[in-house]
Amino acid sequence: MIQEEYRRRREELMAMMGEQAVAVLAAAPEQIRNRDVHYPYRQDSDFFYLTGFAEPEAVLVLVPGRAQGEYILFNRERDPDREVWDGPRAGQDGACDQFGADDAFPIDDIDDILPGMLEGRQKVYGSLGQHPEMDQMLFGWVNQLRARSRLGVRAPDEFVSLEHLLHEMRLFKSAAELAQMREAAAVAAKAHRRAMQRCRPGLFEYQIEAEFHAVFRDHGGEHAYPPIVGGGRNGCILHYIDNRAELRDGDLLLIDAGCELDCYASDITRTFPVNGRFSGEQRAVYEIVLAAQQAAIVATRAGNHWNEPHEQAVRLLVQGLVDLGLLDGDIDGLIEQEAYRPFYMHRTGHWLGLDVHDVGDYKVDGHWRELEPGMVVTVEPGLYIADNIPDVDPRWHNIGVRIEDDVVVSRDGPEVLSLDVPKAIDDIEALMRS
Ligand code: GLY
Ligand code: MN
Ligand code: MN
Repeated sequence: MIQEEYRRRREELMAMMGEQAVAVLAAAPEQIRNRDVHYPYRQDSDFFYLTGFAEPEAVLVLVPGRAQGEYILFNRERDPDREVWDGPRAGQDGACDQFGADDAFPIDDIDDILPGMLEGRQKVYGSLGQHPEMDQMLFGWVNQLRARSRLGVRAPDEFVSLEHLLHEMRLFKSAAELAQMREAAAVAAKAHRRAMQRCRPGLFEYQIEAEFHAVFRDHGGEHAYPPIVGGGRNGCILHYIDNRAELRDGDLLLIDAGCELDCYASDITRTFPVNGRFSGEQRAVYEIVLAAQQAAIVATRAGNHWNEPHEQAVRLLVQGLVDLGLLDGDIDGLIEQEAYRPFYMHRTGHWLGLDVHDVGDYKVDGHWRELEPGMVVTVEPGLYIADNIPDVDPRWHNIGVRIEDDVVVSRDGPEVLSLDVPKAIDDIEALMRS
């Protein structure tokens, strides 16, 4: 992403905040994995959206209209000793030269410098409630100013959540973001194809997972979330991530895995037979989910409201469950009573972007919001016939199917980003034979 794009985002945000306000946003803290080992660092998505700055221990301050510069970054100082171990830091010069900050200061000096930037402003925008330590620091700085009110110092008197403005911006993807997301989806699609080609009975779920890791890293990406690689009964566990079981002849394999590239996520699910051939029962359930998914994708168009793809999917899933004999009754009544919930207990999609479950409101003024060009959603209906659902003929047991694609709402209709991985039964079987 070019620096110009980050600058445009900051300016758009500052224009909405107005000159009475200041925004303070912290980088994500590092997380310990075990003892003195950290997890690989992942920047906070809001912070990254506004800065493109990927180091920890940083604070962004936006002060609209400040004469000496509106965009200030507090970040780590250069430190040759530490850089031997951890690699280069941008330092204050890098913050200005490479990341476009108007001013940059060492993070260790923040207590002395930041309160002055709040002085005279009425509102402080922040990511309230996310990082308790940051909240405490922010309240502390404001209190420092309040303590000097008799000297004529004016402290902000309103704390406002930044999310409302920022997440609305993040919901609408720019051309550069869409290009990045097309690439993230293409890499994930490639890995899903490889998984289909490699799969056979006797392998373990983690061996299929390894294909994703190899392809993602081969493209400089990583997992956007822990991958779900679930054979047979495990495919009916929505958040299954153990991925340790042996893959058995005659079972289905459900894989939900997405690649994150430069912080942008893809989120793709495919379900296919371990041995390369769908059984009659698997085929019957799969065709229902596929029809529901295709109808939901068609409904993912500008002008429809957010829930319409879900409603389309639910109607076709319920009709299919009735046709299979797994539900009995009138379709509208079954939908109304949510009789499908033992088999379909999640929603049909979510926003997708920097976060896999991306930010943005789903309702506006209490009503489902309208889909608009630039939004990106997943479309992911499924049916899960676990063996403990009462009154189900055992021939349907442990068939878990989900099909998930990433879809851009555009002026020209839905653009499916994850087309490069087959989902029609014949196409899957042909790829698995190849
Ligand atoms: N992979 C998470 C989801 O599909 O929502
Ligand atoms: Mn998924
Ligand atoms: Mn999803």
